[in-house]
Amino acid sequence: MKTFDSSRFAVIADIHGNSDALKAVLRDIADQGIASIVNLGDHLSGPMAARETADILMPLDMPSVRGNHDRWLAATAREDMHPVDGAAFDQIEARHLDWLRRLPPELWLSGDVFACHGTPESDTTYWLETVSPEGDVVARPRDEVAAAAAGIEAGLLLCGHTHLPRRMDLPDGRVILNPGSVGCPAYVDDLPVPHMVQAGTGAACYAVAERTGAGWQTSFRHVPYDPGRMIELARAGGHAHWETRLATGWVA
Ligand SMILES: [Fe+2]
Repeated sequence: MKTFDSSRFAVIADIHGNSDALKAVLRDIADQGIASIVNLGDHLSGPMAARETADILMPLDMPSVRGNHDRWLAATAREDMHPVDGAAFDQIEARHLDWLRRLPPELWLSGDVFACHGTPESDTTYWLETVSPEGDVVARPRDEVAAAAAGIEAGLLLCGHTHLPRRMDLPDGRVILNPGSVGCPAYVDDLPVPHMVQAGTGAACYAVAERTGAGWQTSFRHVPYDPGRMIELARAGGHAHWETRLATGWVA
């Protein structure tokens, strides 16, 4: 693995097999002269281009953590998989699964930068959001966010999983950053109660983090790209309802 520049780097997450969004983001990162990228997981799961996505990511050898869908892809029997995991599973080979299996659930990029997929404890828990009993996805209270950060003595804590770009600063100055989703701007989930997550834009999203004398400077980048090929792949796989999600960032 190349040396990671922990003073200025890009943060990507939740690609979900959208290789055209990934290519657009990688171009945008290169255009800014940023050489280091950390990837927060959920790389392949989805009805689009899982194999192509894996074949782009694996040679890049960037520091990456394992998402819940990566874990399920690597460890669940095909017949027990969720349809979007199964769609990805059917495209990939043992070498791709081996790569997923080797990913750590969390990593430290320096003594000051920590990365995980959901929270430090769980790859299926939303860190900066919560779902109300009515199914509304809302910002999580600060004390709950801080409780999940207990014991992680980093200035910058990175998470993905909710597909929503958000930064929250804790009272002690630690910064928690979710870069949003590269390739899946809207989805539905049944747990803890049925809800929708909607970024409200189809643009591919990621974040840039830079250490300054005054603290962590962060920015979100929304990169427009043509989702047409990904929509066709989803449709061909029986997931035509992904068209609106990919094109608009809304479920419907
Ligand atoms: Fe996830």
